[in-house]
Amino acid sequence: MALERTFSIIKPDAVAKNVIGAIYNRFETAGLRIVASKMVHLSQEQAEGFYAEHKARPFFNALVSFMISGPVMVQVLEGENAVLKNREIMGATNPAEALAGTLRADYAASIDENAVHGSDAAASAAREIAYFFTEAELCARTR
Ligand code: TYD
Ligand code: MG
Repeated sequence: MALERTFSIIKPDAVAKNVIGAIYNRFETAGLRIVASKMVHLSQEQAEGFYAEHKARPFFNALVSFMISGPVMVQVLEGENAVLKNREIMGATNPAEALAGTLRADYAASIDENAVHGSDAAASAAREIAYFFTEAELCARTR
């Protein structure tokens, strides 16, 4: 199976809970490698641009407000089937529906403050990675 990259955010609620390391441990235990990482406090413009696909949704303004309420960790994960694997680690968007042992079941309080973001497809992963990182910032880990 081909090596794939996906984009991940540890959202302000999870950063505030001080579980960055616990979440990184889940990624690594599942065989995903962190190939780029930084902590950022998003501007309103950055958050609106990142979630542009949801601009017409009723939850858009609340989502942007939440995403700029504190710092986030953004990272690129690499591994086999990384996009789907990360979505499995994350669990369902609504933590009430997330399977036991997933990040959202363990760390999310509600659908609107749900601990993590993960790309939903290869195309969105490419767009989201490029939104935060240059190609030169992605470190090759597999050798
Ligand atoms: P979405 O892309 O549907 O979920 P996911 O993060 O699992 O890919 O939605 C993006 C974010 O918008 C979601 O993580 C939290 C927020 N959101 C709400 O606040 N309410 C909602 O009803 C939905 C669908 C999403
Ligand atoms: Mg999504």
